[in-house]
Amino acid sequence: MSSEASQGERQATTDNQAVADVPRGTVRQAVLHADKLSKKVTSGERSLTILHDLSLSVAAGESVAILGKSGAGKSTLLGLLAGLDTPSDGELTLFGHALSRLDEDGRAALRAGRVGFVFQNFQLLPTLSALENVMLPLELSPRAGETQTAAQWLERVGLGERVNHLPKQLSGGEQQRVAVARAFVTDPELVFADEPTGNLDPDTGGQVIDLLFQLNHEAGTTLILVTHDHALARRCDRCLRLDHGKLEAVLENIVPTAASIDEGAQ
Ligand SMILES: Nc1ncnc2c1ncn2[C@@H]1O[C@H](COP(=O)(O)OP(=O)(O)OP(=O)(O)O)[C@@H](O)[C@H]1O
Ligand SMILES: [Mg+2]
Repeated sequence: MSSEASQGERQATTDNQAVADVPRGTVRQAVLHADKLSKKVTSGERSLTILHDLSLSVAAGESVAILGKSGAGKSTLLGLLAGLDTPSDGELTLFGHALSRLDEDGRAALRAGRVGFVFQNFQLLPTLSALENVMLPLELSPRAGETQTAAQWLERVGLGERVNHLPKQLSGGEQQRVAVARAFVTDPELVFADEPTGNLDPDTGGQVIDLLFQLNHEAGTTLILVTHDHALARRCDRCLRLDHGKLEAVLENIVPTAASIDEGAQ
C-alpha cells in the first residue's frame, strides 16, 4: 500500500481509537483545514454571529498571524481551530480527522501532546507552581524526565528562578511566559498562541518571538498566532485579518508598517 493510500485511509477513520493509533507526523500536508466554519452565540435574547462561513487551510510548518480589531472573534476562532470549542456550522479537520466525528474525549486524545495552546488570559491553575503548571500537559502525554523537561522550558523563557512560584506571585508577563512554556513542553506539532507577547516589554517579547520562530524553523512546529504585535506578524509566512466573521489576506507590502496593523488592532 502506498503511503498516500495509507494516509487517505487514516484520514477516513472516524472513531476515537483510530485517533490514538495515528502516529505523530503521519499527515504532512494540511495540519488543519477549516471548511465554512460558523459560530453563533446567544446573548440574552439576541443571537450573535461571530464567525461566518470561514475557511482556512494551514500546512505543516507554516506560521500564520491572525490580526483584527478587539471583539472581531480572534480568540473564538483560535478555540475552534484547536478543537477546544465546537462550531455552529461547518467542519474542522485536524491532523486529517474530522472533529465533528469525534466526541470530547476523542478530540482531547487527538490534541494530546500534538497541540499546544497559549491562552490570552494564560489559564494557569492558581494552586499549582509554575513548574507544576508546565508539567500538566505531560500528564496527558507522559515521557521520561518530565520534571527536568518542564524546568528546562521555564529556563528557556527566562523563568529558571521562578519554578516554585504560584501564578499570583508572578507578574502578568511572567505568567504569560509560563503559559508559553506549557504550550511547548510536549514538543507539539501545532501551537496556537493568543497574543503571546501582549503583556511583555519589547525585549522580553522579542525573546519569546525568537523562541517561537526557532521552534518553527528547527522542529517544523506549525504556528497560528493572534497578535497586534507587528514585529511578530511580520515574521509569519502569512498574515490574515479577521473582519466581519471572515478572514482576508493582508497584503505583504503593508505588513511591516505598524500603522497598517494597529489600524486593525483597536
Ligand atoms: N459565549 C459568548 N456569548 C456571547 N458573546 C460572546 C461569547 N463569546 C464571545 N462573544 C462575543 O464575540 C465577540 C468576539 O469575541 P472574541 O473574544 O473572540 O474577540 P477577540 O477578537 O479575541 O477580541 P480581543 O482582541 O479583545 O481579544 C465579542 O464581541 C464577544 O463579546
Ligand atoms: Mg481575544
